[in-house]
Amino acid sequence: MTTDRFDFKAAASLLAADGWCVQPGLMSAAQTQALATECAAMHDAKLLLPARTGAAHTASALRGDSTHWFVTGAMSAPQQAFAERIDALRIALNRELMLGLVECESHYAVYRPGAGYARHLDRLRDNDARVVSAVFYLNENWQETDGGALRLYLEDGTHRDIYPHAGTLLLFLSAQFEHAVLPATRDRMSIACWMRQRSLGATT
Ligand code: OGA
Ligand code: MN
Repeated sequence: MTTDRFDFKAAASLLAADGWCVQPGLMSAAQTQALATECAAMHDAKLLLPARTGAAHTASALRGDSTHWFVTGAMSAPQQAFAERIDALRIALNRELMLGLVECESHYAVYRPGAGYARHLDRLRDNDARVVSAVFYLNENWQETDGGALRLYLEDGTHRDIYPHAGTLLLFLSAQFEHAVLPATRDRMSIACWMRQRSLGATT
């Protein structure tokens, strides 16, 4: 068996210890590039739609991204490759941490220059389904001067800025960490993903 380029066990123990972690190597460089190329082409073709928050209205004051949800049974090859890797991670987290994660949902997101996402929690009100948030970044040659960090607010009152470099995977516990997307000076592409448990309080 070939050694896996992603350390599932390390991701699980960091998540258990700190509630969040950044890990490289989920996808190969070629797979990451294929996702970036597709995301940019779909955005150019206006196939990404302004994101919604909670109720059925767009709230560009809160978030300025456009998204495309991955649809089971209708995924492109790059999307399918991503979905398989993130599902392998879901299963590894179940095995190591007994989290009871039953499914993943993912979308491409593009933030145009100046767009961001105000400080928020990924748990929707009255719905505890989202347990682990995963964000995978697609941007080649990202510089810190480009802005666009994901700002993760820690429980001790400090924060960490994670830059959206191609190949970076950020994991954090959805219920625990408020975060924001800071505006950038260039287009910023990511895949946002949530690993879900069978929801107790869900109304939908
Ligand atoms: C989200 C989110 C972060 C990012 O979609 O909820 O916080 O870096 N995205 O794209
Ligand atoms: Mn979020």
